[in-house]
Amino acid sequence: MELVVKDTVIDFEDNYLNLNNFINKFNLNKYFIVTDSNVYKIYHNEISKWFKDSKVIVIDAGEENKNIDTVLYIINNLLKEGITRGDTIIAVGGGVVSDICGFVASILYRGIKHIMIPTTLLSMVDATIGGKCGVDHAERKNIIGSFYEPKGIYITPKFLETLPKEELESGLGEVVKYAFLDNNFKLLEEDNLINIIKESVLIKKYYVEADFKDTGLRMYLNFGHTFGHAIELKKGILHGQAVLEGIKMIFDLEADLGLDISREKALYEALLKKFDLAVKGYNYKDYIEDIFNDKKNFNGILNIVFIKDFKPYLYKTTKGELYDKIRNK
Ligand SMILES: NC(=O)c1ccc[n+]([C@@H]2O[C@H](COP(=O)([O-])OP(=O)(O)OC[C@H]3O[C@@H](n4cnc5c(N)ncnc54)[C@H](O)[C@@H]3O)[C@@H](O)[C@H]2O)c1
Repeated sequence: MELVVKDTVIDFEDNYLNLNNFINKFNLNKYFIVTDSNVYKIYHNEISKWFKDSKVIVIDAGEENKNIDTVLYIINNLLKEGITRGDTIIAVGGGVVSDICGFVASILYRGIKHIMIPTTLLSMVDATIGGKCGVDHAERKNIIGSFYEPKGIYITPKFLETLPKEELESGLGEVVKYAFLDNNFKLLEEDNLINIIKESVLIKKYYVEADFKDTGLRMYLNFGHTFGHAIELKKGILHGQAVLEGIKMIFDLEADLGLDISREKALYEALLKKFDLAVKGYNYKDYIEDIFNDKKNFNGILNIVFIKDFKPYLYKTTKGELYDKIRNK
């Protein structure tokens, strides 16, 4: 099945068999593969079969390598291999590889083509979709980056067969988030993994096309991320797992503010059960200072994505107001 998100063609397939046909659709000149050390270790045979004569650049795996040094390492290697303006980068890997490669593609020769082949669930449902790319710097995530869409994305859950369980669960954390951003229970009812991925991408498509540059509606995709980011940093847990914890904390906060979110909580519990996910359950009150220190805090006012009647909206509050309202809870 093919889907177009803004200017990106996305192909959903059960396996790798159509990968070469997909790439051929773009009439590419020369292309260069970028992947990470873990993915290359597992898939080097497949990579050399799929992209016979192409140069493969392997970067060290891990978020700690999502930085400007890796960007320059890739660019230096591409130039050494003779990349020209008409050539293409193909990123094979998770969100770290796709975020770096999208950024390299956006700045090299002021923009060259790129194609993504996501290999983690998180990169299939989230990181490769919507054209946001970039690297971390000065202890801030994604602080250097751009909006730059890939020409194509080839999605197959076949890659997930080798993905460690906790990484799969991290991707499912984002899937659970999507269930609250579109007023339906489709994700709960769907059992086929590729359909779950497709449904998630369709939900993200709506927000990306409505607000590509992330100045309004796209902020709703941050549901669960306000406390999630704080937990991710403090507890060192994976991103999607932190989002899952962050959603529960938002529901606890909403309940303390007197909102009836019982139906939303029931859906959350049902999704956890369906995907066999567990949360530790952190107390949101212990993280209020952290969320007001976050970069999304403008002049002391924080926009927190709340859900009510299965619809997201922005709850604007200052730290003082929030403490006042939950004082006796
Ligand atoms: N651009 C966006 O819109 C966006 C959205 C969400 C997240 N992100 C970014 O995505 C990154 C996280 O992505 P991620 O969770 O994919 O992390 P990741 O790319 O670090 O991959 C997770 C781990 O799995 C390994 N791996 C990848 N595919 C594998 C496979 N098929 N089999 C075995 N191992 C495999 C990787 O080497 C890595 O060790 C973060 O940097 C985050 O900021 C970006």
